[in-house]
Order: sequence, then structure tokens, then C-alpha cells
Amino acid sequence: MTGGAGFIGSNFARHILGSHPEDSVVNLDKLTYAGNLENLRDLEKDPRYRFVRGDICDRVVVREAMEGVDAVVHCAAETHVDRSNAGAGEFLTTNVSGTFTLLEAARERKIQRFVAVGTDEVYGSIAKGAARELDPLNPSNPYSASKAAADLLARAYWTTHRLPVVVTRSSNNFGPYQYPEKVIPLFITNALEDTPLPLYGDGKNVRDWLYVLDNCAAIDVVLRKGKDGEIYNIGGGNEVENVVLTRQVLHLLGKPESLITSVKDRPGHDRRYALDSGKVAALGWKPAHSFGAALEATVAWYRDHEAWWKPIKSGAFRAYYEKQYSSR
Ligand code: NAD
Ligand code: DAU
Repeated sequence: MTGGAGFIGSNFARHILGSHPEDSVVNLDKLTYAGNLENLRDLEKDPRYRFVRGDICDRVVVREAMEGVDAVVHCAAETHVDRSNAGAGEFLTTNVSGTFTLLEAARERKIQRFVAVGTDEVYGSIAKGAARELDPLNPSNPYSASKAAADLLARAYWTTHRLPVVVTRSSNNFGPYQYPEKVIPLFITNALEDTPLPLYGDGKNVRDWLYVLDNCAAIDVVLRKGKDGEIYNIGGGNEVENVVLTRQVLHLLGKPESLITSVKDRPGHDRRYALDSGKVAALGWKPAHSFGAALEATVAWYRDHEAWWKPIKSGAFRAYYEKQYSSR
């Protein structure tokens, strides 16, 4: 797998090693600002787990890491929309060129299954109903445009080269080990520190929330049972307005709503995402966690893991965050 030191990747590595005793995992990760070996400490002593530090754009490293591998689950990416709006260069390099480098190596190594982990953001904002896999793509920001390019390229490697690719497109994940620039861990940790929660625009944008362990289970199902060349939407079925989510977080922590601060909207801010997940359901997957219970567990995890997020929030993140919000 790639990107195993990030949020979804570290949860996925733990899921695979925990639920498939016959499997082993090679984790190729560059350790960007979002990659953190603390996310994987409990796996380090497992003889079925190996970490390789390297860039998915580096042909030599990628080729070596794929030696003896039968499936690739590609999670590595630049992932934060606000960062892509501030500067898109790394997004194009990692998300597009990096995916290309992996696809080429996978062809050469005759990999039997390549899972390109993608996002619902490629469909753009959905006014009504829910996006299906063959709907037109309409990405609004540099991050989602780079992800659309990556997942189309991956599918082209199936159509043209018969590389056995499957693509997942999931909705917004939340849960343990999520970097605290994303809204749920940012708002939980800000509330724990009694600092303002910066709600963009009118707070009425809607996201469909998916507990990360449910996404990991779905990626696992697609990895094993997905059909070559197919795309699978993975949605949580929990559409929530940001302002409602924010109040829920504050309520769970016993903090006042006066911490909510309205700030200038994100440029190009997609209003609503929604997915039809019927296709992955037909493979036998459905979310195992209710939104309320998963949000409560997530809030409890951040409350109990201050030693994980405090160093992140006091390091380079602080400089990023202060720059980001000085303009709002
Ligand atoms: P993340 O930002 O938490 O982690 C990304 C990981 O990729 C980090 O460990 C980082 O070090 C690594 N990485 C970045 N550039 C790299 C490079 N050039 N070479 C090697 N490693 C590199 O990301 P996440 O939120 O866990 O997202 C994982 C994947 O899932 C991404 O492809 C993302 O687009 C997709 N996705 C995320 C969500 C979500 O809500 N988080 C939803 C849908 C899809
Ligand atoms: O939909 C899947 C996508 O979800 C993934 O592909 C991305 O990698 C992931 O970052 C996420 O993108 P979003 O832009 O939806 O997530 P974010 O947590 O940045 O924002 C969620 C919503 O909360 C969005 O409507 C913007 C709003 N928001 C976000 C931040 C960081 C705020 O109101 N205030 C904030 O400070």
C-alpha cells in the first residue's frame, strides 16, 4: 500500500493485519507533513508489516517496493482542499504523476489488483439526488481535479493495458488518526483547547460522513471482490450540515456554542456531496457504525489522545494555520 502513514492508510493497514492473518503489508510512504509513524506504532513489531520511506514519484523506489507484491492499495495523496487552493503544484505532482509512476510499475510487475483510492469530490457539488459511478465528473478545486485525473488514468490502464484496476470513490471520512486540519479533528481539538471553531460561510454545506473503519472494510471488499475496471462509490449515508455537525461536537464535549466563529467562505466551496453506494452494497458491504456512535467514539479518541495531536498542532501546523486564518 501507499500512504499508510496517513489517516485512512494507517487505519487500513491495521484493518488488513487484524482481519487477514494470511496477508502482509508493505507500506510505501514519503512522510509528508500528513504522514506520521505514530499512527502505526502498534504494528511495527508485526513481522507481516514492513515500512519503506519513499516518494511514489520515484520510479526506482516504487519498483523495488512492489517486488513480490500481488496487490496495490494506493492511498498516498495530497488531500487537503484549502492547501490545494493555496498552491496546487504538489497536488499535481503527487496525485497525478505519482499515480502514473505506480501504474507503470504495476504493469511491469504484473500486479494482480490495483485499487486506486479516490473521492466523491470528483463529481463536484450535487444539488439533488446522489452521484452514481458513471455520472459526469465536475471537480471544483485543484485537489479534486487532480484526483479525477488520477482515477481516470487508473481506469485507462485497465482499458488500454488490461492492468486489473478498481477505483473507489468515498465520501468524507472521520475517526482516529485524522490530521487536525480536517474539520472534525480540527473542531474537536480546538474545542478541547477552548479556541474558536472557524465555520466557513453560512455553515450550511453538506457532507456525507463515513466512519474510517467502514471505509477500510469497503476498500477491503473492493480489493477482493471488485470487478476489474469498475468504480465503486462508498458513502456513509449520513448527510449533515456543517453547522449541525459543529453543534454536535460541542455538545459531546460540553463546550459552549459561542466558540463557533463565522469566517469567510472557502473559494469554490462545494455545497453538497451525496453518493449512491448501491454497487458496493451489492458486493456485500454496508456501514457497520452509526454516525452518532462513531462521532462519540471519535470525540472520545481525541480527548484521550492529546499526546498524539498536541505536538502536531504546536509544530509546523501552527504556522500554516495562522497564515490560513490571517486572511479570513
Ligand atoms: P492523509 O493526508 O491523511 O495521508 C496521506 C498520506 O500520503 C501521508 O501519509 C503522506 O505522507 C503520504 N504521501 C503524500 N505524498 C506522498 C508521496 N509523494 N509519496 C508517498 N507518500 C506520500 O490522507 P487521507 O485522508 O488518509 O486520504 C487517503 C486517500 O483517500 C487519498 O487518496 C484521498 O484522496 C482519499 N480520500 C480521503 C477522504 C477523507 O475524507 N480523508 C475521502 C475520500 C478519499
Ligand atoms: O469528500 C471527500 C473529501 O473530504 C476528501 O477527498 C478530502 O481529502 C477530505 O479533505 C475531505 O474534503 P472536505 O473539503 O470536504 O473536508 P474538510 O474537512 O476540509 O471540510 C469539511 C467541510 O467543513 C467543508 O464543507 C468545509 C468545512 N470547513 C472546513 C474547515 C477545515 C469549515 O467550515 N471550517 C474549517 O476550518
